[in-house]
Amino acid sequence: MAEAKSVAILGGTGNLGHGMAVRLAGAGHRVVIGSRDAERARAAAERVSELVPSGTLSGADNGDAADGADFVLVAVPFASQAGTLKSVKDRLREGQIVLDACVPLGTAIGGRPTQLTGVWHGSAAQQAAALVPDGVRVVSGLHTLSADDLANPELTLEQDTLICGNSKADKDAVTALLSTIEGLRVVDAGRLEMSRMVEGITPILIGINIRYKTHSGFRITGLD
Ligand SMILES: NC(=O)c1ccc[n+]([C@@H]2O[C@H](COP(=O)([O-])OP(=O)(O)OC[C@H]3O[C@@H](n4cnc5c(N)ncnc54)[C@H](OP(=O)(O)O)[C@@H]3O)[C@@H](O)[C@H]2O)c1
Repeated sequence: MAEAKSVAILGGTGNLGHGMAVRLAGAGHRVVIGSRDAERARAAAERVSELVPSGTLSGADNGDAADGADFVLVAVPFASQAGTLKSVKDRLREGQIVLDACVPLGTAIGGRPTQLTGVWHGSAAQQAAALVPDGVRVVSGLHTLSADDLANPELTLEQDTLICGNSKADKDAVTALLSTIEGLRVVDAGRLEMSRMVEGITPILIGINIRYKTHSGFRITGLD
């Protein structure tokens, strides 16, 4: 496998964080689950370890988790994204890549999960970029993956995730990380400003999931 990386998952006690911890630990990466509460993080890491006995997992508060990680995955509801990033800002270092998965669903402002709310910066990803220290780069992705599907290590994903970012090198690094997850193909969707449209796919899929009672995914055709 490709080189093992360390990945901190802020909000790793939640749905997406759990699913990504299962997949990344299963792929051989070192995963630190972050939480506002270190004890809750350790309990979440133990739950993942039971599913992935070969995995290297630990739990810590969000700040300790982010400290020194190669990648910092932001997996908190959009309404808490800014507060979470501010709470770890002094633990982030130049060279780290923040992988932001937040979707500004209507639920953040009392609306529905099938709605997208406007973000002053343009997108959740651009808001994240405005909040991290200089030298920390943001790539967005994972928006269309189902947490439930990720949490089932027996299930091959067979779908794409679109990533956005301003540096090809950063996107290459994220692609190398995520491509270690079996069945997940990473597609470069352009600069960070494109994330506004990528984030908008999620409420469409949530609506499809409700109408068809499924976990829909996303796939681009015409690529090798
Ligand atoms: N669920 C999915 O299938 C999915 C797929 C793609 C993208 N996403 C996006 O990923 C993000 C996480 O989704 P999720 O479903 O995993 O969310 P979630 O389970 O509701 O929450 C994740 C974690 O965020 C932390 N959190 C919750 N409220 C908070 C607050 N007010 N302040 C600070 N931290 C708070 C909690 O961790 P602690 O209490 O332990 O701190 C919680 O376990 C969202 O932005 C979502 O749009 C989700």
